[in-house]
Amino acid sequence: MASLRPSLRCLGLGLYKRPTQSLSRISSNTFRASFSTAPLSPPSKAVVYEQHGAPDQVTRVIDLPPVELKANDVCVKMLAAPINPSDINRVEGVYPVRPPVPAIGGYEGVGEVYALGSAVSSLSVGDWVIPSPPSFGTWQTYIVKEEGVWHKIRKDVPVEYAATVTVNPLTALRMLEDFVKLNSGDSIVQNGATSIVGQCIIQLAKIQGVHSINIIRDRVESEEVKERLKKLGAGEVYMESQLEVKNVKSLLVDIPEPALGFNCVGGNAASLVLKFLRQGGTMVTYGGMSKKPITVSTSSFIFKDLSLRGFWLQKWMSSDKAKDCQTMIDYLLSLVHHGKLKYDMEMVPFEDFNTALDKALGKLGSHPKQVIKFE
Ligand SMILES: NC(=O)c1ccc[n+]([C@@H]2O[C@H](COP(=O)([O-])OP(=O)(O)OC[C@H]3O[C@@H](n4cnc5c(N)ncnc54)[C@H](OP(=O)(O)O)[C@@H]3O)[C@@H](O)[C@H]2O)c1
Repeated sequence: MASLRPSLRCLGLGLYKRPTQSLSRISSNTFRASFSTAPLSPPSKAVVYEQHGAPDQVTRVIDLPPVELKANDVCVKMLAAPINPSDINRVEGVYPVRPPVPAIGGYEGVGEVYALGSAVSSLSVGDWVIPSPPSFGTWQTYIVKEEGVWHKIRKDVPVEYAATVTVNPLTALRMLEDFVKLNSGDSIVQNGATSIVGQCIIQLAKIQGVHSINIIRDRVESEEVKERLKKLGAGEVYMESQLEVKNVKSLLVDIPEPALGFNCVGGNAASLVLKFLRQGGTMVTYGGMSKKPITVSTSSFIFKDLSLRGFWLQKWMSSDKAKDCQTMIDYLLSLVHHGKLKYDMEMVPFEDFNTALDKALGKLGSHPKQVIKFE
């Protein structure tokens, strides 16, 4: 018991506040603190939550002790990791799959290989790697996980793209492929067009010759946002209030009615997507940013025979198709490298994590995706 005290202090968990059982859960699941003579990682700083709740209340940055590197382990020095809406939902405890608490936040990110266990052969010190499929605990400065968890990626892309390539761009890619066969000249409609997924949908659709109709929230600087999305390749961009008209389709001149729509907002913004869809069209819901339910008129079913579907990347990752995931990641990063895939992000030093979290929580108005930079 006495030998555990130093690491309790390192974890920032007061001896009398945290029962030993919690330490062993943390140690065995995540940190594997060790007192042997095997090679050790450097100590790490991590964003930890010990219970679910409001992320700005339950998370804190703590020091973690070095971790032993086993033969198949790789120690990765994290470079960058985003704060995604699903990370927030995991901390809140409302995401269907979440790590047991206490846990380290974050689900995707990029790092540089810092040290290798004696049996690791596929990676070298200095390689850039991402956890693929993504996995818990990317909001920390050093991670030790088995070789098989890591996918080596190219280093000639900006670090913030490497950190964010999986969750959102891959979702956009799959949703454009997996529901309706689109041909060049077709159109799609989406809300939440300013999100990273939305920006990726615009660009990936454009690459296929597919026209995008985009819906954004009302805002003062709407012209600026519309301009930015159009530069990415957006066809039309409308604020929600502009679509309060009897027949939204009258707004579309020479554009085919979309057979496919994407919804990450819910409420009225979802109804607007439905209004644009053609007879027999499909709306895929993948997020619920407004936390409002989707309401569908009876006539949409009877007279338009619309279909409502859903997409969840984490479930897709566990399917057969996910074996091609790393090829898709490499494809997306090649688009980034060639300047064909861009999206707005704000890099934030790790020291300013709390401000980044407040921005990601929407407490400070609309902000681009917050990406933590670890050095
Ligand atoms: N199902 C899946 O597998 C999957 C995978 C990836 C992402 N997602 C979901 O996709 C959505 C977008 O994720 P992201 O990381 O791309 O987003 P993001 O870049 O963090 O951007 C957030 C988006 O949500 C909008 N928003 C925020 N609060 C809102 C509110 N109260 N009402 C309406 N819109 C609001 C923002 O609009 P403003 O620009 O107006 O602030 C912005 O478009 C999220 O719901 C996320 O959980 C799902």
